[in-house]
Amino acid sequence: MKHKRSDFPVDFQFGVATSAYQIEGHAQGGAGKTHWDSFAATPGNVVNAENGDLACDHYNRYEQDLDLIQDAGFDCYRFSTSWARILPEGRGPANQQGLDFYDRLVDALLERGIKPCATLYHWELPSPLADLGGWRNRDIANWFADFTEIIMGRIGDRMFSVASINEPWCVSWLSHFEGQHAPGLRDIRATARAMHHVLLAHGRAIEVMRGLGMSNLGAVFNLEWSEPADDSTEAQSAAALYDGIYNRFFLSGVFNKSYPENVLEGLSPHLPKGWQDDFETIGSPVDWCGLNFYTRKLITHSDSAWPALKEVPGPLPKTQMGWEIDPSALSRFLIRTARDYTGDLSIYVTENGMASVERQQDEDRIDYLDQHLAEVRRALDHGVPIKGYFVWSLLDNYEWALGYEKRFGLVDVDFKTLERTPKASYFALKNALTQN
Ligand code: NOJ
Repeated sequence: MKHKRSDFPVDFQFGVATSAYQIEGHAQGGAGKTHWDSFAATPGNVVNAENGDLACDHYNRYEQDLDLIQDAGFDCYRFSTSWARILPEGRGPANQQGLDFYDRLVDALLERGIKPCATLYHWELPSPLADLGGWRNRDIANWFADFTEIIMGRIGDRMFSVASINEPWCVSWLSHFEGQHAPGLRDIRATARAMHHVLLAHGRAIEVMRGLGMSNLGAVFNLEWSEPADDSTEAQSAAALYDGIYNRFFLSGVFNKSYPENVLEGLSPHLPKGWQDDFETIGSPVDWCGLNFYTRKLITHSDSAWPALKEVPGPLPKTQMGWEIDPSALSRFLIRTARDYTGDLSIYVTENGMASVERQQDEDRIDYLDQHLAEVRRALDHGVPIKGYFVWSLLDNYEWALGYEKRFGLVDVDFKTLERTPKASYFALKNALTQN
């Protein structure tokens, strides 16, 4: 790699990220069923109908995985806590084995000198709560607050940082409008409610953790740069609306206590009554803002119902996901986010990485990471207070609706034997982080 640790500020944190359902092996340890289990069991939703029952078996192999994080010289590990592992029914009695697992995981991190960075929710909603409407039901904000209190009551004393909900756009729009993730709905009213409730739940979790005396609390947003596909005014307003729905709605809710006008034009008839009164909770002050960044999209107008836009294939090189590689969009986002939303607040790049067909000699991933680190450096030079960068992901894992084929890991996983083999990118990063 061209970059090394000393190119960044001395207190800059390098980390690696995963999530519970994607690696743990959800069928083990007394976890309850989630909406992802039933989504995956429904024909047509997930490639090969694969699920997270075993995944990387991290539940049993976590010590080996944490050794890999330590050996590479990472400062931080971003993991998520599975709601259904801790509360199998979503509410009510806790599964002690689940609480014990996260307790052991956190202690094992601290023993290795790695800072624990938890995300409370990374997409596996307990099925009994999904049966009650899941993210469409306003009560989810309080169910989530109760879950937060239980898990952080157990491990909150040892966290470096905690994020509420991973990628609110995916939890709401991708899952309730595009139907690509659980619960697989395609319904504008469900979407509007989920978009609002996911932010309300975020705010309630922050309030609960403040009540527990915790600090270094944040929110994690996924951003996708939208570029008009051509010069027409139609394409320009379609791209601005995509930006509004994907990026600005969630950032603006949390940091500006308002929703963007161009999104409200189509969404407000479907938002829950009294949504304007929830911004005090939604906008509960956070200590940092996390941004997950992978790609950009070319957008134009379409003749369908609102939002009447569509993606157009772009000319840039693509990853195994078919996502265009546009590193410059990362620095543009970092600079814009600080300017429009977060000011002096710390920003972390909480996910960045690529899926590659190269199982072990992944030179393409080394280039991808290097090019994006250059953009982080550029934004730092512009004065954006970026405090850390996390690679997605430690291991090849369950890529949701795309199953196990798409490989994002720095470490290869053989899903038959579960053997882990560090890739060239792992060693390149290790060099970058540990050389003087
Ligand atoms: C973002 C999500 O947080 C993660 O779960 C997913 O695997 C990566 N993007 C790659 O798509």
